[in-house]
Amino acid sequence: MEIAGSKGIFVGGASGMCRATATQFAEKGGQLAILDLERSDGASVAEALGAKFYPCNVMDFDGMVDVIGQAVEDLGGLHFLVNTAGGAVAQRTLKKGGERHSLDDFRRIVDLNLIASFNINTVAAEHMAKNEPNADGERGVMINTASIAAFEGQIGQVAYTAAKAGIAGMTLTMARDLGTLGIRCMTIAPSLFDTGLTAGIPDEGALQLTKDAAFPRRMGQPHEYATMAIAIFECPMMNGSTLRVDGGQRFAPR
Ligand SMILES: NC(=O)c1ccc[n+]([C@@H]2O[C@H](COP(=O)([O-])OP(=O)(O)OC[C@H]3O[C@@H](n4cnc5c(N)ncnc54)[C@H](O)[C@@H]3O)[C@@H](O)[C@H]2O)c1
Repeated sequence: MEIAGSKGIFVGGASGMCRATATQFAEKGGQLAILDLERSDGASVAEALGAKFYPCNVMDFDGMVDVIGQAVEDLGGLHFLVNTAGGAVAQRTLKKGGERHSLDDFRRIVDLNLIASFNINTVAAEHMAKNEPNADGERGVMINTASIAAFEGQIGQVAYTAAKAGIAGMTLTMARDLGTLGIRCMTIAPSLFDTGLTAGIPDEGALQLTKDAAFPRRMGQPHEYATMAIAIFECPMMNGSTLRVDGGQRFAPR
């Protein structure tokens, strides 16, 4: 799809990879809305991009229906959804003392990453379905964010791995479900990226975590996620896949 004149919603857009994607989208002539936690930098980021900020929490599943609805109404339509809101908990299946992984923690991480993404996708698809298709029959594009931990989770990442593997797993099925409507669905699986989420990782730790990459052996930069997301939006043949953006990295067990 062509970006100029298109409308996009960026969930998690106050920071990191989603913010970088919103920035590239705006530079290419797209109109957008930033959706993020109230305590985030969403207001100032949105202002800098000539956009409006919509405070929200993706864990409020019903509330997201209203927030997205309001943003779409204000924008006058929806063609692009990028969603990076997510997070992890560090806990082994059996903790070192033999205690079982907390079921509440497991469920919370699945809710935050998988259920929230699916919820946002269904709401976005409902709005995109109302678009007039372009000459190629396209009505919209949705991008979710997994992680290479979806495929090789490290020790202590079992909840995160399950949630992100769920996102990767639903991508083709959702693309097939929405294919007759001309709505595409893709997932990006980053390796370690230099964002708000990883700001606390010291340089030495980052070197350790990226040493197995083929090239480049460093953290990814938010604009590198954005470049991929923009390419997905612009290329009609990109559909139903989870793309690793990882410099050839394969996570070791720890
Ligand atoms: N940075 C990495 O190394 C890395 C690697 C693989 C996958 N990921 C995935 O990328 C996403 C994080 O993006 P980032 O790395 O750009 O981090 P980031 O912290 O810079 O940006 C994430 C944004 O999401 C928002 N957010 C978090 N929880 C939310 C909620 N409940 N409701 C609404 N907004 C919420 C945050 O406020 C933040 O602005 C997560 O899904 C994470 O699993 C990150």
